[in-house]
Order: sequence, then structure tokens, then C-alpha cells
Amino acid sequence: MVQRLSSSLFLLLLAFTSTVHGQAVLPVDGAKLYDEKCASCHGKSGRGDGKYAGFLSPRPRDFTSGRYKFRSTETGSLPTDADLVTSITAGLHSTSMPAWKPFLSQEQVLAVVVHIKTFSPRFASEQPRSIAMAPEPAQTPQNIEKGRAAYEKLKCAACHGVDGRGTGAIAQALKDDWGRPTRATNLTEPWSFRGGRTVRDIYLRFRTGMNGTPMPSFIEASTEQELWQLAVFVSTMGRRPLWEMKGDEVANFYKAQQQESSSDIVEHGEYIASVAGCAFCHSPFRDDDTMIEELKFAGGQRFRVNPFGDFISYNLTSDKETGLGGWTDDQIKTFVTKGVRRDGTRMIPYPMPWPNFAHMKPADLDALVAFLRSLPPVSNRIPPPARPNIVSYLVGKFRMLILQQDPPLNTYAGNAGEGGR
Ligand code: HEC
Ligand code: HEC
Ligand code: HEC
Repeated sequence: MVQRLSSSLFLLLLAFTSTVHGQAVLPVDGAKLYDEKCASCHGKSGRGDGKYAGFLSPRPRDFTSGRYKFRSTETGSLPTDADLVTSITAGLHSTSMPAWKPFLSQEQVLAVVVHIKTFSPRFASEQPRSIAMAPEPAQTPQNIEKGRAAYEKLKCAACHGVDGRGTGAIAQALKDDWGRPTRATNLTEPWSFRGGRTVRDIYLRFRTGMNGTPMPSFIEASTEQELWQLAVFVSTMGRRPLWEMKGDEVANFYKAQQQESSSDIVEHGEYIASVAGCAFCHSPFRDDDTMIEELKFAGGQRFRVNPFGDFISYNLTSDKETGLGGWTDDQIKTFVTKGVRRDGTRMIPYPMPWPNFAHMKPADLDALVAFLRSLPPVSNRIPPPARPNIVSYLVGKFRMLILQQDPPLNTYAGNAGEGGR
């Protein structure tokens, strides 16, 4: 009965929509699609400041500047529509930018392209300048050798290292146009190339430059042929992926990786901090849930845990007065693993789940501390926890003891600290 009713309802609806719209196909609303699928990362107004942006590295593109990395156009030029369609449908490997091909029709992708172009005024006044491309050369030993010579001549090693692993002399201090630290790609792991790993993809990156990043175009310094040979050479730099290795090889590979990661203790600490979600609680956010980035790790997020009170997350930056700058390593470690504050009082396991961190390995704790010490100082004095009024206290206790509910936890937007901005 219910089924009959709903299927006749469906037929009725179908009849209704087809009379209203006739044969015409419903136009795709690019702006609406963008708001639904893209704004959480790229921001409602395309500034690259969506809800999740503060947690992502690399950051989602800021569409307002018109600067794009993955193009088939001259350096500094806008991308073509086809370039944008490729980035959207194929996604950008080893970043959080998904491949949208399974989720959006071609028509929807085109509609969303039209919409993201409205974020930058450049698209209204400029045309993309496509490059002329010679045909791709064959992978002969001779071309590979010439490509290797070009790698040297063009000083790719200054950023990507002699062995291509991204540990070149200046690789550590690179920043993008938005002032964010960035790294030269490890050229021995082609599956991580964001714009794809074919010889053509690789060629395009240094032929056109990756606008907005330190990776320039090299066409002025070389010939078209040389650049193609270089792409052939780079495509041969890839090491064997793990899934093609055999027993001993895998073991040795992991051993080398482990040695490497313990040699960069700050980087390992950053990894620990992100897995433990420190920034998630120790950064304040706005009404629209976006992180207040100037205060990342500077605390100020207010948590109300009934019946225990209001807790403000602490300033974890290296500021001496208001952050961890004045704490000893042991004080930090004791707090994180035991919940014991500097004055000897113990924190309840809400809202910071310190019991989850109780069994952190000493090496991981050392790395976490090293990472926290590397955070530039931001002044933001955090008030002590506040007790709730007697009514909320009693209601909270009643819920916990009689109704056996977990203490409800609410978070509030805004910086509850005293400084920072
Ligand atoms: C989960 C987060 C996320 C979502 C959702 C997302 N993106 Fe992205 N997007 C990114 C990131 C991160 C980058 C930057 C990657 C980089 O810099 O290498 C990016 C980059 C881009 C680029 C720039 C390519 C270039 O040449 O510089 C385009 C275009 C783009 N996204 C379009 C979209 C569209 C359209 C949608 C929605 C259909 C979308 N993105 C949804 C994270 C996201
Ligand atoms: C000034 C430093 C610098 C120099 C010099 C440089 N690169 Fe890069 N390169 C970068 C950075 C930074 C990135 C990562 C860009 C990003 O995705 O944000 C990169 C990315 C790449 C990528 C990966 C693109 C992708 O799809 O993810 C390739 C391939 C590459 N470079 C090859 C080269 C070659 C070959 C040379 C020499 C002609 C060269 N680079 C010179 C800094 C440099
Ligand atoms: C679920 C949220 C949450 C997470 C995750 C979290 N914290 Fe906290 N943290 C807090 C809150 C809230 C406070 C303030 C507690 C108080 O004042 O009693 C705090 C306090 C602190 C304090 C200062 C204690 C004091 O003297 O007031 C330090 C240090 C600290 N956290 C470090 C960390 C580190 C390091 C991580 C990641 C390993 C982390 N926290 C993860 C919420 C969190």
C-alpha cells in the first residue's frame, strides 16, 4: 500500500516537473554546487579560507588572486578552462584536493569552472596565453643523458637536491606567495606529483612554472628540446614504489625511513601534534567555524563542560609570558601525559583527553616538545578555568549521577584569551 502510494506520488511529481520545464534540461547552478562541494575548503568567497583550510597543508587555493599552479599557459598567465577542468576532475595527488570525476558530471564541472573564475577580476580582462609545445621525445638513453645535463645546468638541485629527494641547499627555507612554508617535491616519488606523473605533466610544471610557489619557469634559461629531455630524465628518477619491492628491500627501506624521520625531530613532532589534534583545540575559531589563523596554537578556545566549568585552551606557542616559552621540557611532558599542571594540580580528563597521551613514547614526546618550541611566539594570555554557577552545577551532577549521561561539552567561537590581535 505504502509502496503503491509513493510510486504514484512519484509519477505525479514527474508529470508535474515535465510540464513545468517541458523538454528543457535544468541548467546547472555552478554557484550552488561550489557552495556545497568546494566552499568548505576554498571558502565561500574563494579566498582559500574555508572551514577546514586551517588544518590543511598545502592550503586550498585562494581563487581571488588568479594565480594557478597547474597550467599549460605561459608563466604568470591565467589557466585555460581545460587546465581547470583537469585539476578538478583528476584532483591534485597527495593533497586534500579530491578527484571530482566520480562525483560531478562534465556539465557540472564546467559550471563550477565558470563560477570559480568570477572570484578573480583577472578573468574578465585577460586571456590565457597558451604555450606552443613541441612533440614529446622518446625515452632513449641519449635523451636521458641530455636531460641529466639540463638538471645540472638549470640548478634544479638547489631546491630538489642532487639525488632529487628535495633536500637541496635552500629547500628548507622556501615560502609560497602567501608566506606559507613549502617544500620542493621529492622527485624520486613520482606518484606524489600533484599535477600528474606523465612526461608531459612533468614538462609542463617547469616549462610554465607553478605560479604562487618558488618553482619558476625555465624557458628563458634553456631550449624547448632541453626541457623535454629534462622531463624524460625526471621521469626516470622515480624509485621503486613499496608495492613493487620484495622482503629484504622493504625492511631496508623502512629502516632508512625511520632513520630519516628521527633526524628531523621537529617534523616528527609536527606529525605527532597533528595526530593528537593539539591545534584543533588550541586554536580559536570564528562564528563560521573557520580557524583564527593568527592565533593557531595560541589557545583561547572556550569549552564548557557541565558540571565542571569553563576551560580555555592554553597558549602553546613559545611566548615566554603567556605561552610555553617559560615552561621546562619536563613540565610540558608531565602535563601532556599526566594532566598535572605546573602548580601541581591535576586537570580532569575533560576536555583535554590527556589519558590518551599517557603512553606516548619518550622519543615522540621529545619530538612534540621540539615542535612546540619551534612555534613563533604569539601573546595571548589565557584566563584560568571558571566554575559554573550552582544551578548548572546541580543540573550537571544530576545528569551525570542519576541519568548516567556523559558531561555535555560545548565550544564557543571567538578568542577567550586577552591578546593576539
Ligand atoms: C578537502 C578540501 C578541498 C575541497 C573540498 C576542494 N578542494 Fe580544490 N584544492 C584543495 C587544495 C588543498 C588545493 C591546493 C593544492 C596545491 O596547492 O597543490 C586545491 C586546489 C584547487 C585548484 C587549483 C589548481 C591550480 O592550478 O592551482 C582548483 C581549480 C580547485 N582546487 C578547484 C576545486 C573545486 C572546483 C572544488 C569543488 C568541486 C574543490 N576544489 C574542492 C582542497 C580542496
Ligand atoms: C627555487 C626552488 C626550485 C627550483 C630551482 C626548482 N624547483 Fe621544482 N619545485 C619547487 C617547489 C617549491 C615545488 C612544489 C610546488 C608546490 O606544489 O607547491 C616544486 C615542484 C616540482 C615538481 C612537482 C610538480 C607537481 O606536480 O607536484 C617537479 C616535477 C619539479 N619541481 C621539477 C623541477 C625541475 C626539473 C627543476 C629544474 C629545472 C626544478 N623543479 C627547479 C622548487 C623548485
Ligand atoms: C579536546 C581538546 C584538547 C586537545 C585535543 C588538546 N588539548 Fe591541551 N588543553 C585543552 C584545554 C581546554 C586546556 C585548558 C585546561 C585547563 O585550563 O584546565 C588545555 C591545556 C593544555 C596545557 C596547559 C595546562 C595548564 O597549565 O593550564 C598544555 C601544555 C596543553 N593543553 C598541551 C596540549 C598538547 C601538547 C596537545 C596535543 C598533544 C593538547 N594539549 C591537546 C584542550 C585540548
